[in-house]
Amino acid sequence: MNTRVVPVDPLLPNLDAIEEATRLLRGGGLVAFPTETVYGLGANALDDRAVAAIFAVKGRPPTNPLIVHVSDIAAAAELVAEFPEPARRLAARYWPGPLTLVMVKTGRVPDGVTAGGPTVALRVPAHPVALALLRVGRMPLAAPSANPSTALSPTTAEHVRRGLAGKIPLILDAGPTPGGLESTVLDVTVAPPRLLRPGLLSPADLAAVIGPIDATPVVTEATRPARAPGSHARHYAPTTPLELTADVVGLVNRCLDRGSRVGLLTWRPAAARHNLVVEQLPADPVGYAAGMYAALHRLDAAGLERIIVEAPPPDDAWLAVRDRLMRASAPSASVGEVPAG
Ligand code: TXA
Ligand code: MG
Repeated sequence: MNTRVVPVDPLLPNLDAIEEATRLLRGGGLVAFPTETVYGLGANALDDRAVAAIFAVKGRPPTNPLIVHVSDIAAAAELVAEFPEPARRLAARYWPGPLTLVMVKTGRVPDGVTAGGPTVALRVPAHPVALALLRVGRMPLAAPSANPSTALSPTTAEHVRRGLAGKIPLILDAGPTPGGLESTVLDVTVAPPRLLRPGLLSPADLAAVIGPIDATPVVTEATRPARAPGSHARHYAPTTPLELTADVVGLVNRCLDRGSRVGLLTWRPAAARHNLVVEQLPADPVGYAAGMYAALHRLDAAGLERIIVEAPPPDDAWLAVRDRLMRASAPSASVGEVPAG
């Protein structure tokens, strides 16, 4: 299959591109499109076969349910059996935006979308291109991040192309996504609501609207369907071994001493030198999140022996960044040992 990459203005999306995408989606095809968080791989959420194609293209286990994107609160309400009061308050405050709410689904939502489970994850994305697709197409769009399963999430059309070229007909290219990290996922079927995946909106942002939430970390095994599939230990990972450490100086020096070529991802000023490729991100969590995946994609493409990541600060504001970096480094215990000599 030939994959077309079509440029779209991120603020005023050209209707031609949106209509071309809509035709493909109506026919059961897949279209990659930008959201305010990361690029999504979209399909008509009410079309069983289109949804099955998402799983096939990503190599995603069928036990991992998908996020369904809708144009507004009314469109969300059509897909759920009940819209609990805390969910209404959060939606009123944060939609469109990077907040995904898990609610009890109606029979309209195909089982493939929810991995056979009784709940559906819904959000209204804040990107003009995503909203134009939802409004012009008048279909809810199932859309996980547009990357092969367990790989790094894409924040540019080029990232999508590298992972999925030849497998999908169309990528809408509106430049880098502004947020850089996936949405916050909150289960509102329980009281208090439970944080399933940290994201751009912090627990404090949510608590400010609905009071206390349960934000204890979720780590599931590959159960069916997983409570929070993104919480499988290894996820969002580069192919180069990645190590998260508070002692970057020590680890970098040990690696360089034995002649390794390594990458360093840090928020502090650091100088590149022989065999050391440095990616420096802003020292604030919002700026860091916006650039994190792109920096990891660059380091992953640089042919390095390993990527060393300086552990971010322990504060709450860095929760989602820490979560993604920990998952990217999941099997790190063995990576951590630098063989002597
Ligand atoms: O920012 C985002 O959310 C991006 C953009 C494209 O919107 N999408 C995204 O989708 O990250 P994906 O498929 O890569 O992440 C799926 C997440 C899982 O981590 C899980 O927490 C949640 O969606 N999820 C989906 N359906 C669920 C359900 N029924 N119950 C619990 N969690 C669910
Ligand atoms: Mg994903």
